[in-house]
Amino acid sequence: MTNQLPFTLEQAQAWREKYPTPFYIYDEAGIKKCVTDLYKAFSWNPGFKEYFAVKAAPTPAILRLLRSLGCGADCSSAPEIEMCRRSGITGHDIMFSSNETREEEYRAAFAAGAMINLDDITQLEIMERACGIPDTVCCRYNPGTFANTNDIMGHQYDSKFGMTRPQLFEALRRLREKGVKHLGIHSMLASCSLDNGYYPALARELFALALELRKDGITLDFIDLSGGLGIPYLPWERAVDIFTIGEGVHRVYHEMLRSNDIELSIFMEMGRYITGPYGYLLTTVIGKKHIYKEYVGVDASASDLMRPAMYGAYHHITVLGKEFAAADTTVDVVGSLCENNDKFAVNRALPAVDYGDILVIQDAGAHGHAMGYNYNGRLRCAELMLGEDGRVRMIRRAETVRDYFATLDVDPEFNPDRPAPAETAPDWDTDA
Ligand SMILES: Cc1ncc(COP(=O)(O)O)c(C=O)c1O
Repeated sequence: MTNQLPFTLEQAQAWREKYPTPFYIYDEAGIKKCVTDLYKAFSWNPGFKEYFAVKAAPTPAILRLLRSLGCGADCSSAPEIEMCRRSGITGHDIMFSSNETREEEYRAAFAAGAMINLDDITQLEIMERACGIPDTVCCRYNPGTFANTNDIMGHQYDSKFGMTRPQLFEALRRLREKGVKHLGIHSMLASCSLDNGYYPALARELFALALELRKDGITLDFIDLSGGLGIPYLPWERAVDIFTIGEGVHRVYHEMLRSNDIELSIFMEMGRYITGPYGYLLTTVIGKKHIYKEYVGVDASASDLMRPAMYGAYHHITVLGKEFAAADTTVDVVGSLCENNDKFAVNRALPAVDYGDILVIQDAGAHGHAMGYNYNGRLRCAELMLGEDGRVRMIRRAETVRDYFATLDVDPEFNPDRPAPAETAPDWDTDA
């Protein structure tokens, strides 16, 4: 949970005049500091690179910002690759980490010059059939068990991702025989981990493989520690310390690899840690309902931020302008979906709210807008960027009804060139 918001009630009210709530707003300065610190923490590793997990915040302005800070992108689909390409991220600055991959997606990755991360040994053949053998290939490892995992990721033997150890060795051997020039291994064994020891422990696991592979004559160019670092969603949780983590991985690197004359690049694919704390969902109070419980209704719903409904996830909520008021009401904060899990908070202590108050739903900058959907005809909201200079710009407009109908253009009644007659067209039938 972010302690201090990077904006005031007055600023938010002014933005709301121009951009109706709900909307997401991202804090450019926060993202920049986070990435700069990450690169400082891993500066001991000359090839270090963060491939931002595009799935966490697939918005070109965010990708361009991250590219300007030295990041690449981790893509899981052809449309994500295309978004990166149009955002200026190309070639080996893209890591393509997918699973159950379609041939056309391998072709898209190959055409973009991306590095391909194979999820399974059988994928080698599928990739070869689809696009041939690229110069750089990575293989995803699943050790079956791993001490430093957490409940969110569950046990590795239940996870659908990655290859067993014998499969990994076999895949790398075959890739080398087929002439791949650069090889890497990848593993993601926790999600939302707040343990400073997670990455050092994962590094230890993967560095041990690098040592064994060398005995087989296989040299790795990089090890991809993937994503999985958490952020403190709950007020009493503590943020990880990226410098402690960087030093922890460095120590293991020195002990296991440098001392054995092995040098390789460390890659990461974090999403949540990079943008999560720096994205806010702003929503207006539009209802107050008293039945068996007290409800505060807002103009955002689970279709804007799915995590509470999907995972029961906690997101801290601030009533703007009432930060120091006593939290002396207990309410459920709810959206308008016809689903009883459409609740941003349950039994939450908040200051008494009024109609029109702006609620800030915090830590929404990763896997937030990206997981939005259209259930109940709800349209996906806009995204704004709060620049370092204090100026705000829209980086994605809100969907319109026309967007909602876009794939119905197969039906003559919904042909976009034939809008509803003016006299019957509702006022939302515009692209405004
Ligand atoms: C392959 C891969 N890389 C990176 C990530 C990013 O994870 P996070 O946002 O938790 O850092 C994910 C998340 O699902 C993933 O599947």
